[in-house]
Amino acid sequence: MKTALDILDERICAAMASATGQDDCSAIVRPTADPKFGDYQANGIMGLAKQFKTNPRQLAEQVVAQLDVGDLCEAPEIAGPGFINLRLKPDYVASQLLGINADETERLGIAQESEPQTVVVDFSSPNVAKQMHVGHLRSTIIGDAICRIEEFLGHQVIRQNHIGDWGTQFGMLINYMFHVHTASRMEEVFEAKPQDAFVLEDMEHLYRRAKQEFDSDPEFAERSRRYVVDLQKGVQNVVRQWREIVDLSMDECQEVYNRLGVTLKKEHVCGESFYNNKLPAVVSDLEALALAEESDGAMCVFPEGFKNKEGQPLPFIIRKSDGAYLYATTDLAAVRYRVNELKVDRIVYVTDARQALHFQMLFKVGDMAGWNRRDGRTVELAHVTFGSVLGENGKPLKTRSGENVKLKELLDEAVERAKSVVEEKNPDLPAERKAEIARAVGIGAVKYADYSNNRESDYVFSFNKMLAMDGNTAPYMQYAYARIRSIERKAESKGVNIAQELHGIDSLDLSEPSELELGKHLARYGEAIESAATDYRPNYLTSYLFELAQKFSAFYTNCPVLDAPPEKRPTRLLLCDLTARTIRHGLSELLGIAVVEQM
Ligand code: ARG
Repeated sequence: MKTALDILDERICAAMASATGQDDCSAIVRPTADPKFGDYQANGIMGLAKQFKTNPRQLAEQVVAQLDVGDLCEAPEIAGPGFINLRLKPDYVASQLLGINADETERLGIAQESEPQTVVVDFSSPNVAKQMHVGHLRSTIIGDAICRIEEFLGHQVIRQNHIGDWGTQFGMLINYMFHVHTASRMEEVFEAKPQDAFVLEDMEHLYRRAKQEFDSDPEFAERSRRYVVDLQKGVQNVVRQWREIVDLSMDECQEVYNRLGVTLKKEHVCGESFYNNKLPAVVSDLEALALAEESDGAMCVFPEGFKNKEGQPLPFIIRKSDGAYLYATTDLAAVRYRVNELKVDRIVYVTDARQALHFQMLFKVGDMAGWNRRDGRTVELAHVTFGSVLGENGKPLKTRSGENVKLKELLDEAVERAKSVVEEKNPDLPAERKAEIARAVGIGAVKYADYSNNRESDYVFSFNKMLAMDGNTAPYMQYAYARIRSIERKAESKGVNIAQELHGIDSLDLSEPSELELGKHLARYGEAIESAATDYRPNYLTSYLFELAQKFSAFYTNCPVLDAPPEKRPTRLLLCDLTARTIRHGLSELLGIAVVEQM
């Protein structure tokens, strides 16, 4: 099914074209902010009038005279300098809802993209040998929502977990593990932990100690560098040790992904080490293209338009003077691999805003080298940025002792605190159910709070706020869903067969204003997904869902469902059912937040 917005956009564009004789007009149709002005508003007339140097209101009148939208809308109205306001007809809304109801796929009447793309989403990407901390939360879950939304729209998504699994730090760590962290010293370091109980946290300890040695003992440092060379050369026991470090790290990350309901799997790992053998060619090819030059012994590209504070050209360094390759080199190799081998149409990078300059330069250099082009077409490179997670003090969230908050511990605490919410709501549920709900609510609250913020802003992490039962929170949404489910259960227990009542239903009566309001909003789910996808903004989806729950509340307050007169009952049951299905789809399919049937 096409969205009303798409249809209106098309028709108004056509009317603009026939009023002016110009082919590619843009109608710029948007949902109105204020229902006073109808449901949609076309903003494109003013631009067109300017272009033709005519009076916009007059042009709007000419366009409206050409416009045929009577099947969807009441008569269009012209407002202000030349806006066209459009109000959907209840009949049209009803037909949309019936269409959604008749859709037997679980797509709620939403069409797939007619030109699906292959898209790499590069996200999460933690660094190996360290536990995931709160700094990895946003890339992991925002990236996951992007993957889910793109896939729902019909694109082929290739998830890439570009983990930091390569570099000099591994020489240091391996050196320490081979020579210092021997069985005899285990005791001292970990109070006699058996080898198989070695976890990532222990590795973090080792890492810190290795770093201390590295900084204080020149001999240790020298030997560490030799291990880096050995690792690069592929010396067997060194590579094996490195593999173990990576595996241990990724196993623990996987646990976090599973708890978060994130769709990343082991096979999506394609870390920095993967590009190691592709790095020399990046440099030599850029040299051959006369794009790379030596500067103070390092190989650099100076992309146009990038200057430092002093106005000097800013280098994108691809090889240091000691011969080492950098983050930038790897990312260039990754662009080539993804464009040429994975044959993608688009690459989406999800990292915090501090990497903005790196990606701007990467995209520019990739473009200068032509590495973003395949078969004469340009692959779109997009950097999706986000702000920081802050503590109540307004500074980046840390533990009391000033360390990064481990994601694992953060989730533990969320679930723990959610238990009391459940306890308060529904003390009589069996313990197992309560535990399940607490998990859904706790993890859901952390994710939803993140999604519901404009991703570019920082936000203050507050368990109290995110677990509140009212407001734009996960528990509010989960409760809204569970409440409708309980209405449906109640209906069934009174002998109403909902499936039967809704099957083959062919007319609706949306005469109550709150029914029509809810119905219109339900019919707009596709538009909300579309806008969330276009701008990579999950908060468009949470806002939509929150509004949906509010409109449902208003409807349910005004309109009895179970005690409705018989001729009104099917419409109202359908509104309940579509609301529940939409909330469930948005939360669990697109945002990976569990819903519960009872709360
Ligand atoms: N591991 C990197 C970091 O922690 C993020 C990698 C993002 N992806 C990329 N292709 N550069 O900062």
